[in-house]
Amino acid sequence: MKAIVLVGGEGTRLRPLTCQTPKAMVPVVNRPFLEHMVERLKKHAVDTIVLTLCYLPELIQKYFKDGARFGVKMVYIEEKVPLGTAGAVKNAECLFDEPFFVLNGDVLCDLDYGAMMRAHLACGAVATIALIPVEDVTQFGVVETAPEGRITRFVEKPKANEVGTNMVNAGTYILDPHVLRDMPRNKPVSFERQLFPGLLASGERLTGFPFTGYWIDIGKPDNYMELNYHLLIGARSPGKASSVAGAVVELGQGTSVDPGAIMDAPVVVGERCSIGAGVVIKGPTVIGNGCRIGPGARLDRVIVWNNVSIGKNARLEHCIVANNCLVNDNCCIGEGCVVGDDVKVTPSCVIQPGTKVWPGTLVT
Ligand code: GTP
Repeated sequence: MKAIVLVGGEGTRLRPLTCQTPKAMVPVVNRPFLEHMVERLKKHAVDTIVLTLCYLPELIQKYFKDGARFGVKMVYIEEKVPLGTAGAVKNAECLFDEPFFVLNGDVLCDLDYGAMMRAHLACGAVATIALIPVEDVTQFGVVETAPEGRITRFVEKPKANEVGTNMVNAGTYILDPHVLRDMPRNKPVSFERQLFPGLLASGERLTGFPFTGYWIDIGKPDNYMELNYHLLIGARSPGKASSVAGAVVELGQGTSVDPGAIMDAPVVVGERCSIGAGVVIKGPTVIGNGCRIGPGARLDRVIVWNNVSIGKNARLEHCIVANNCLVNDNCCIGEGCVVGDDVKVTPSCVIQPGTKVWPGTLVT
């Protein structure tokens, strides 16, 4: 089976993490988010993955290359200007001659792709949309269906009393290639706002494929943190991606931990790190490669990317620190902070809860 994954967006809501890293490449438990998706697709017999690139394309291509290392064939299609979700697929139209998956490149879920394809082929719809129930529909694209599954209405971000269902578009579709035929070339088109409602209006059959289980969209920093925590804890983790679940503490090659450091699981530390005397790390916490945690530092539910240095007696709580940062001695980084790449925090500085620090900033 073939899948096309949309990874061309700028990920503005996830800034500053996405200022220098495409959303698909943000590390989730020390591996790019997209690698978790690819692993899952491969498990469900998807053997060819087309990536639609636009924002920072070279970072994605350089990592996945031809896909051989991940057991799939990777094909790349690049847009010079963003074409929107459906426009990006139109741009790759020549690669598809039978029904294929389309996935938003920021969603991880427990969907049974094989079952969805079987349902699609059996019902004769031109498109099948995976649907997931949510508690609060107001931030999502609601999809109303008739009892036999036929889609009757799309409502984007409705008020709570405006719709009769809590089923929303889960960001995974199966399309028959011919639905792309009449679309304009090189023009931005959205699935949710244009292509799907247009097909419905012209009387085409669209079907919903409801599923339950794990589903997360890492579009915002809170959700990104949540996914890391879920994979670390394993409790709600989707499938095999929970390879670290249940591990007390996992340390990468070449990492040294002072015997006086305390790690409260689950904690994952990458390669070539050093954890100093008297450090206390409370999980769920993930630390990338090449990091140094100075003596007496305390980290509580933190996500640290690569090559970060944290000074003596620093305090970090429930926050994210991206690549190549220097957090000096006695600094405090509060709950919900998101610190971008290459930030320097001068000694004893306090970054208030909820602050976003842009890449390259010197915080004094
Ligand atoms: P925000 O700016 O935070 O809304 O993020 P986004 O635009 O990157 O993502 P959004 O959730 O709006 O889009 C869903 C998926 O479609 C993401 O995986 C995006 O990378 C992808 N996407 C959005 N717009 C485009 C586009 O114009 N071209 C391509 N190739 N992909 C896109």
